[in-house]
Amino acid sequence: MKTESFHGRDFITLLDWSKEEVETILDVALDLKRRYAIGELHDHILRAKTLFMIFYNASLRTRNSFEAGMTQLGGHAHYLEPGKIYTPALPGKEVAYTTERVSDVARVLSRMGNGIAIRCYGDPVDWAYGAANELIRNFAYWADIPVLNMEDDKYHPFQALADILTVYEKFGTFKGVKFVMSWAYSPSVHKPRAVPQSAIIAATLMGCDTVLAHPPEMALDPEVIQACEGYAKANGSSFEIVHDFEEAATGAHVLYPKAWAPVQMFKPPVGEDNPDLAQEIFDRYKGWKATPEYMALADPNAVYMHCLPADRSWEVEDEVIDGPQSVVFDEAENRLHVQKAVMSLVMR
Ligand code: CP
Repeated sequence: MKTESFHGRDFITLLDWSKEEVETILDVALDLKRRYAIGELHDHILRAKTLFMIFYNASLRTRNSFEAGMTQLGGHAHYLEPGKIYTPALPGKEVAYTTERVSDVARVLSRMGNGIAIRCYGDPVDWAYGAANELIRNFAYWADIPVLNMEDDKYHPFQALADILTVYEKFGTFKGVKFVMSWAYSPSVHKPRAVPQSAIIAATLMGCDTVLAHPPEMALDPEVIQACEGYAKANGSSFEIVHDFEEAATGAHVLYPKAWAPVQMFKPPVGEDNPDLAQEIFDRYKGWKATPEYMALADPNAVYMHCLPADRSWEVEDEVIDGPQSVVFDEAENRLHVQKAVMSLVMR
């Protein structure tokens, strides 16, 4: 177990963390979860410390798990809405007396607290793929305190930690576990790639036999795919991409079907800035839905996963998400425990 390399670090993507470091995070998360379950107080760990949370987008799970987590660790989390502070902006995106340069916001908050957490994707950066990640990295450049990514347009690392902790709890291992991250239909194309990209990074990093299933038009970031191939090779496990919903599910232990936008949704040069075309592409694949028949293709002990919120009746039928194979509320709870683990390690 690695313990010496955490203090003061940013948490922006799992690509910045080794397998051994992630194993430590999961170990600490399980310890904090055990303490929480038996009512053992652990409010000395971040006593009187402050986390500033800046949300450019809506949230149920992320906001409440960070806020509750900081309370349980003895500190406090501030909820900051960009429109109610001066919206943090990069040079070239500034509006007089409406925005404030990220370099200034980061240095001010660094004088007052112990961590800055940011959520930003989609509309606030006009669907320019990578712009939200750049904003968060700019915060990290200027801040003297850890910067935590609460979901940007590339990564949702805390969701991925909760996902793999849930897999570990259900199967007791990553080796030999067939983890299927699949696209599923939603009437809304306003869906970033952060969850599927972080899920396959986490699954391949930890050694699951990972399958990415999507219609040909829904390809993910080639840099992420390359990283996953490297992790699978290093672990002696497998990573494959298939374009058939049912084929991917066959014999799976983990089924994680959710929607994400095709590249046409993003601004040039990455995409085409064409939400109408993105919608047209989505509507070709209404059959990509988690049904009881779909679940029956998997291993009898398979679990259904989703980061939530789920688009019920489009991505998934109630019978599946409310059924015995669903572990979505375990995943949601595990957000609390993994975030407390990372905050304890980097903000202590
Ligand atoms: N899974 C997740 O990040 O949920 P919220 O959007 O509610 O934070």
